[in-house]
Amino acid sequence: MKDLVIIGAGPGGFDTAIHAKEHGLNVTLIEKHKVGGTCLNYGCIPTKTLYHNAKTIKNMKDLSVFGVEVEDFKVNYETIKLRKETIVSNQINNILTSIKKLGIELIEGEAQIVSPTKVLVNGEIIETKNIIIATGSVPKRIPFEGDDFDIVHDSEDILSLKTFPKKMVVIGAGVIGCEMATIFNHFDCEVTLVEYLDEILPPLDKDIKKRARNLFKRSGLSIYTKSALKKVIKKDDKYYAVIESKGKMLEIETDYVLLATGRAPYFGNLELDKLGIEYNNFGIKVNRNFETSVKGIYAIGDVTGILMLAHKATYDGYKVVSRLLGKDMNINFNQVPSVVFSFPEISSVGVTEQELVGTEYRTNKYLFKTNAKAECLNETDGFIKMIVDEDDILVGAHIIGAHASDLIHELSTIMYKKINIYEYQNIIHAHPTISEVVGECIKKF
Ligand code: FAD
Ligand code: NAI
Repeated sequence: MKDLVIIGAGPGGFDTAIHAKEHGLNVTLIEKHKVGGTCLNYGCIPTKTLYHNAKTIKNMKDLSVFGVEVEDFKVNYETIKLRKETIVSNQINNILTSIKKLGIELIEGEAQIVSPTKVLVNGEIIETKNIIIATGSVPKRIPFEGDDFDIVHDSEDILSLKTFPKKMVVIGAGVIGCEMATIFNHFDCEVTLVEYLDEILPPLDKDIKKRARNLFKRSGLSIYTKSALKKVIKKDDKYYAVIESKGKMLEIETDYVLLATGRAPYFGNLELDKLGIEYNNFGIKVNRNFETSVKGIYAIGDVTGILMLAHKATYDGYKVVSRLLGKDMNINFNQVPSVVFSFPEISSVGVTEQELVGTEYRTNKYLFKTNAKAECLNETDGFIKMIVDEDDILVGAHIIGAHASDLIHELSTIMYKKINIYEYQNIIHAHPTISEVVGECIKKF
């Protein structure tokens, strides 16, 4: 009898399997497609390799600012693709090595849950005390006329492009839409971003998304909000995305349409109704310990529909393992840091200002342009914004600017430990570093 069977080897599944085994549990991990799940194969890692290619191209274009003159440079798309594939495969091998070293049983196959103590895979029944469903999510596709043209793709297809498009229309200005739009913009692609709601990156703090829109537009993106894709048409061998924008119909010539309109939970062909596991369109319902409506069956990560982030999936799993071990990890799931890898980067943790309407709070901002290191880097766009409650405790932090993805973790720590901001003013930040923006912003309270 196993202690734990995990279905799905994405960052939720594989990290949890490793963590469980390291803590003495007898665990089986089952994967039907590729170890690493969405994150490694179609998400975080391949997109971030492309992000760093785009960043290198951007830096090349800015070289003259640093007094370096180059006549011309070429971009080799084959090398870019190869590098991406190598990094993905190296990362998968790292996971496989850990799995092997720890002696975790990894089974390739599609799992079915027969009962809370029985899992069926490849015709064999595995008996187990507990089950974790970590089956992830899939892209949501919207129906429209022309959706079957071969220029219409989602975020999984875009990563296996044979040639890089010259003109792209991105539908949906959420995280995937904004990352892809700003990345391809640096690959000399003319990008149009179309968003249904009145602002891009809807869940972010209002000041951040406003600034992001201005900076994205300044870098050459065309952005249409309160707009919808009506159809894709072909005329004289050219394709056009027909967009309804604020009462007008626009025809935008394009050779690629990227659908980035959100992701839906993937239930992995599991017979949830038969098992009595409750779910809705957002995902499998879980309690604060990630247990489903059926005792002994847990669900973690994207399949729960709560914050579809790789690190969230992993920590959901850690929480389950700690429960199984009779301990309790005090993870604060209201403080999950998130990053948009756009140009510039955006990060946030905690609440936004718009979520605090009707409560007592104070905010401060500090601009990157006054930071010496940012000026040395030639990356002066952006600001940090902090929100404190009536007890002077940090409850929200939002950054747009250089190294936002790294800076956010200091703020997560302050927030988690509930350190009073006046006490935190005693903490020294080294000079000259970008992290001084944190110290300076706190000093302004
Ligand atoms: P998944 O990674 O989706 O893994 C689920 C696994 O379960 C899959 O491998 C699937 O094959 C397997 N499976 C399903 N059913 C069965 C079954 N019945 N039997 C066996 N196996 C099964 N998040 C970040 O935090 N940072 C980022 O930078 C980031 N970038 C992203 C970029 C893109 C383009 C996309 C699409 C996503 C990105 N994400 C990012 C989100 C991140 O990829 C997901 O949040 C994360 O992969 C969720 O992990 P998971 O383990 O819940 O599911
Ligand atoms: P999303 O929910 O972030 O954004 C989808 C956007 O599409 C929304 O702004 C929505 O209003 C818009 N939209 C929906 N239908 C539309 C329509 N018909 N026309 C125009 N706009 C429409 O979803 P996204 O970007 O697909 O990402 C999915 C998940 O993947 C996110 O929840 C995110 O957490 C995760 N992810 C995380 C990343 C990171 O951490 N850096 C990177 C990429 C994805």
